[in-house]
Amino acid sequence: MTEFLVEATGLYHIYRERDVETVALRGARLALRPGSWTSLTGPSGSGKSTLLQILAGLLTPTAGAVLVDGDDMTRMTPDERARCRRRRIGVVLQRDNLHPGLDVAGNIALPLRLDGQPAGAIRDRVGTLLDEVGLADRRHRWPARLSGGEAQRAAVAVAVAARPAVLLADEPTGELDERSTSAVLDLLEAARAAHGTAILTVTHNPAVAERAGRSLVMRDGVIGDD
Ligand SMILES: Nc1ncnc2c1ncn2[C@@H]1O[C@H](COP(=O)(O)OP(=O)(O)O)[C@@H](O)[C@H]1O
Ligand SMILES: [Mg+2]
Repeated sequence: MTEFLVEATGLYHIYRERDVETVALRGARLALRPGSWTSLTGPSGSGKSTLLQILAGLLTPTAGAVLVDGDDMTRMTPDERARCRRRRIGVVLQRDNLHPGLDVAGNIALPLRLDGQPAGAIRDRVGTLLDEVGLADRRHRWPARLSGGEAQRAAVAVAVAARPAVLLADEPTGELDERSTSAVLDLLEAARAAHGTAILTVTHNPAVAERAGRSLVMRDGVIGDD
């Protein structure tokens, strides 16, 4: 057994658009321990979002492996990968995290319903999370009618709802003011402390990087040392 919850090695990713090839990752590696918080920074275009989508199982790398609890996600069938993501991984992308056909409460409840949790437990958990991200009065809003910051806070609540083993977040505080930023960071820290969730945050915000125990920098598709 490995001491790492997530272990990605030898990651290459090439985007192909007609005759143009962009090499976004060139042999990136990253390992996350349970209960750790890692921050990833780096210049725009260095491959951070590509890496996060690959770790989340949303994008298959051109080469390399992503072990989650020892199982290689890149070798799973689409069904197996979907199950692995649902059970173990929470993701906050830079946009489009919410299901447009569900209100805020429905979005937060969705991962819990897919997990087969009982209605009463779901109601309690959704209520607690709405309070924690300050969206209790927005519970019946449609995603299209939320501000950028509200949508981002809702996305974080969705991502932590099912108490994932791994939480991956791409600029989770990009549109937030200072107060909402600290509410979101407190929620991530609570997930880490209570469930040993391993957190990876891609960020330009020093307040986010400050919460992390480890800071990594990505350049030209490779991750350097702290
Ligand atoms: N869907 C895509 N199609 C083609 N090229 C892409 C796509 N997404 C990202 N890229 C390119 O891959 C490189 C890495 O992008 P990205 O992972 O988004 O970096 P970062 O998040 O660090 O800004 C960039 O050169 C970017 O233009
Ligand atoms: Mg990005």
